Amino acid sequence: MSLFDVYPLFDITPVEAKDVYVYDENNIEYLDLYGGHAVVAIGHSHPKYVKAISNQVSKLGFYSNSIQNPLQEELSEKLEALSGCKDYQLFLCNSGAEANENALKLASFHNDKKKVLAFKNSFHGRTSAAVAATDNPKIIAPINTQQEVNFSEFGDLYNVESVLKQNETCAVIIETIQGIGGLDESTTEFYQGLEKLCKQYNTLLIADEIQCGFGRTGDFFAYQKHGITPDIISMAKGMGNGFPIGGILIHPNIKASYGLLGTTFGGNHLACSASLAVLDVLEKENLLENAKEISVYFKEKAKEISKIKTVKGRGLMLGLEFDFPIAELRKTLINKHKIFTGNSKNPNLIRILPSLTVQKKHIDVFFEALKQELQ
Ligand SMILES: Cc1ncc(COP(=O)(O)O)c(C=O)c1O
Repeated sequence: MSLFDVYPLFDITPVEAKDVYVYDENNIEYLDLYGGHAVVAIGHSHPKYVKAISNQVSKLGFYSNSIQNPLQEELSEKLEALSGCKDYQLFLCNSGAEANENALKLASFHNDKKKVLAFKNSFHGRTSAAVAATDNPKIIAPINTQQEVNFSEFGDLYNVESVLKQNETCAVIIETIQGIGGLDESTTEFYQGLEKLCKQYNTLLIADEIQCGFGRTGDFFAYQKHGITPDIISMAKGMGNGFPIGGILIHPNIKASYGLLGTTFGGNHLACSASLAVLDVLEKENLLENAKEISVYFKEKAKEISKIKTVKGRGLMLGLEFDFPIAELRKTLINKHKIFTGNSKNPNLIRILPSLTVQKKHIDVFFEALKQELQ
């Protein structure tokens, strides 16, 4: 049997990893500034994480959502404490797309409307409503086109209002900082204006924090910088440090009822123990502070290289924009310098999404490599 060939692969086979390093089968060390696509939040194989998952699987790895699971309660309390999202309700699932799918569905249940408003250059996942709200026709199958989605320019409140005033839109979904789209973030006036319009037209505001949340920007959620209160917040990626887990935080105004949402695997014991370990390490090791500090250092170092046109993003969700395509440079970084980085829809942008444990010395190694290649 062959694998369904949907991923263009680098010819590298990692077999082990520790903190910000990945090792291949020949024990060659790679510096991981990509974090497996913004997933590795507390470093690979963190001892607390390994211990938590190992202990849990030896006791009880899974049981269905028909019994009491105190780990879910513990996770919701810890999330409330660390995120500052008071009185929200937690629903757990298994991935980012699933989190957004549930968020959109819940919005539609809540206000009985069925259209969605999303933004140009957005990415929200590959399931039914989530992919329809993604601005990439190549990944939208005919079956997905039955979802009715309008797309506004990122930052265009005028267009948002013209859509919302038709009173058919159940939710506006937005990445506070666009990930795959190329690290654009709008202004506080825009996010606050969006919140206001959503309230005015009885539309729910969904903050897709799947990539930019869970501490990656140095704030627990990226939207918090803009002082807004989304109705639903979707999470995944860093939430389990690689263990598949996603979830939504649901504002107290939205009421639950039995059977409204559900999942077999979501919120299982093993997934909860992984996420609890992530939260514990984020807190005890002050990793949000570290994200902010290393970000400042990174931006300073970037000034040393004149070919860098702009530095985008914040915290450890960063991008370097050049005035040439970066595909070859990325290949050289990985093959010659043994450094993993990311790309985006913007062909001129290198994305940096390391573990939040990354240190200045790792950033130095990256910029030395860049200097060698560019100067
Ligand atoms: C902002 C955002 N939303 C949703 C998703 C989908 O998450 P998943 O791949 O876990 O389904 C992603 C994945 O890259 C993402 O970056």
